[in-house]
Amino acid sequence: MFEPYYRPRRLRKTPAIRAMVRETHLTPSDFIAPLFVTEGKGVRNPISSMPGQFQLSIDELIAEAKEIFALDIPAVILFGIPAIKDDVGSDAMSDEGIIARAVRAMKEAVPDLLVITDVCFCEYTDHGHCGVLHGHDVDNDATLANLQKQAVVHARAGADMVAPSGMMDGMVGAIREALDAEGFTDVPIMSYAVKYASGFYGPFREAAESAPQFGDRSTYQMDPPNSREALREAQLDVEEGADILMVKPAMPYLDILYQVRQTFGLPTAAYQVSGEYAMLHAAAQNGWLDLDRVMMESLIAIKRAGADMILTYFAKDAARRLNT
Ligand code: PBG
Repeated sequence: MFEPYYRPRRLRKTPAIRAMVRETHLTPSDFIAPLFVTEGKGVRNPISSMPGQFQLSIDELIAEAKEIFALDIPAVILFGIPAIKDDVGSDAMSDEGIIARAVRAMKEAVPDLLVITDVCFCEYTDHGHCGVLHGHDVDNDATLANLQKQAVVHARAGADMVAPSGMMDGMVGAIREALDAEGFTDVPIMSYAVKYASGFYGPFREAAESAPQFGDRSTYQMDPPNSREALREAQLDVEEGADILMVKPAMPYLDILYQVRQTFGLPTAAYQVSGEYAMLHAAAQNGWLDLDRVMMESLIAIKRAGADMILTYFAKDAARRLNT
């Protein structure tokens, strides 16, 4: 009989010894909870493809924020669904827009919960693209001017951090300049530095009512086969002043997350997107996967690959598990 010289199973024998050699740990402070804000009062519209997620009116948003804060989750990221969409996404650039009002209400009700805002136009335009259209394409530099206005509106409302997600060239530099010029030198930028044109955003587009009315986002979001380009994108954002780099989606792009974290060493975020959440739920509903188990396993995998923080719709459920 062959007898192995070394036996790794020695360190797996009991829960105690496994805990002792465990390399990665999750805590509720790793999470950022995404929330969808809509007009109205007492509104809590379930999002069918994202069980447990809702479009919330501002009063309901506050209630949700209190729950999140009580679970020791430090931050949320807000997405707005405006009453009126137009060709440039005016609601997003108004101090009376849905996000500006939501941020003010949240900072008043739960001042210590960090409020991050998604800075992009797809939820606010009637065509569903992420900026100003020129023909059938998004005009990069015209969009930058609007992103500057949107970021300043968010900061003026009290946003603790802004997160540009539109994959426009120069967006981080443009936003940094605008924030600084208005005195918001202390508002950090979490850049969606590496965001792929992904099929995994499907459920989000139902949630945020932001599906493009024609074409797709492949002229601005990244091509999934590319990884060297991801490092170049991240490098540009570092040079432009990004404080935190994000990779999105998370699970299908763990190789990219690992490289970005290793290469730049900046605080690095990963976005476990709507489709990643939906597919785990769908499989669990069929009895094919144990939801709690794959939820925790997916989150620990994302952290192990290099995420210092995780934007995830599982934030509350995972925090509850970690807190018990
Ligand atoms: C753009 C934005 C999107 C997501 C976050 N910010 C949608 C898109 O690029 O189409 C997707 C998040 C998710 O799928 O959970 N504002």
